[in-house]
Amino acid sequence: MAIRPTIHVIKNVAFLGLGVMGFPMAGWLSRAGCSVTVFNRTTVKAERWCDENEGAMALTAAEAVAGAEAVFMCLGGGPVIREDVLSDSGVLRAMRSGTLLVDHTTASASLAREIASAGEECGVQCLDAPVSGGQAGAENGQLTVMVGGEPEAYERAESLIHAFAKMVRLIGPAGSGQLTKMVNQIAIAGVVQGFAEALNFAIRAGLEPEAVVDVISKGAAQSWQMDNRWETMSAGKFEFGFAVEWMRKDLRICFEESRANGAELPIAALVDQFYADVADMGGKRWDTSSLIARLNRD
Ligand SMILES: NC(=O)c1ccc[n+]([C@@H]2O[C@H](COP(=O)([O-])OP(=O)(O)OC[C@H]3O[C@@H](n4cnc5c(N)ncnc54)[C@H](OP(=O)(O)O)[C@@H]3O)[C@@H](O)[C@H]2O)c1
Repeated sequence: MAIRPTIHVIKNVAFLGLGVMGFPMAGWLSRAGCSVTVFNRTTVKAERWCDENEGAMALTAAEAVAGAEAVFMCLGGGPVIREDVLSDSGVLRAMRSGTLLVDHTTASASLAREIASAGEECGVQCLDAPVSGGQAGAENGQLTVMVGGEPEAYERAESLIHAFAKMVRLIGPAGSGQLTKMVNQIAIAGVVQGFAEALNFAIRAGLEPEAVVDVISKGAAQSWQMDNRWETMSAGKFEFGFAVEWMRKDLRICFEESRANGAELPIAALVDQFYADVADMGGKRWDTSSLIARLNRD
């Protein structure tokens, strides 16, 4: 009988960043049987996490990662990573050799490559693993995770990521996860604006939005935005997920990358300007479907 290789199952993990996304993601790892130590800059969130979940909290990131075989993080963006992860006193240097770092933050592909090569120097395998699916996806454990890195690192992380994801896939080497997330954001920008225009047109034409969406969502115009946002958009309610300021951060990353690879992004650039208008209307924290509000300005 063939002898199966022993698979070392990762048990001790750390989670850094208990924001809208990280808080529930860390909870899913705990419920999947991991021993989780969390760290968050604002301590009260870590205390609340410990009240609601099985696990421990640390008062510094270095303390959180000290005993971890794998470290997960979901932070605001690139500048935080540079300061808290890559610096001489940062997380990477505090991790043990042979461990794994999985970064769920949305940031640039070049930063992901920098983290991967800094990780190599420390003996830490790194994956860039941005997510899609929003707050609801994180809370329901239904995120989509796009991963960049080495296959061996991916194999170690895959089953853990499945604790909070319905879809996870290794796309290619370091940076490929972030590049895939950019593709996702470019695709979404045009779809949201297109649907905002269509719905606004329907309402101004005196049609009943529910009836219109019921019929056209069965045809070629169907989209996730249409199915999940037509009602709240019709009602002018925009508290349902990904914020305008986060979308603008993500589009900035896309524009930076497109300057390097030569891809043209005329619609994404236009929609970014529309989001700037929405932000000026006081909508920085509104969700991305708020593009329709701009069409109803006085
Ligand atoms: N929200 C979504 O729907 C969504 C969907 C897909 C992807 N994402 C991406 O996921 C990442 C996290 O998003 P989120 O919505 O969870 O954001 P969030 O709620 O604002 O949380 C951000 C996290 O980063 C920490 N942080 C921010 N600045 C920091 C600093 N200077 N030093 C240390 N920690 C800092 C925050 O700590 P404090 O608690 O102390 O502020 C918090 O833990 C972002 O890259 C975002 O683009 C979000």
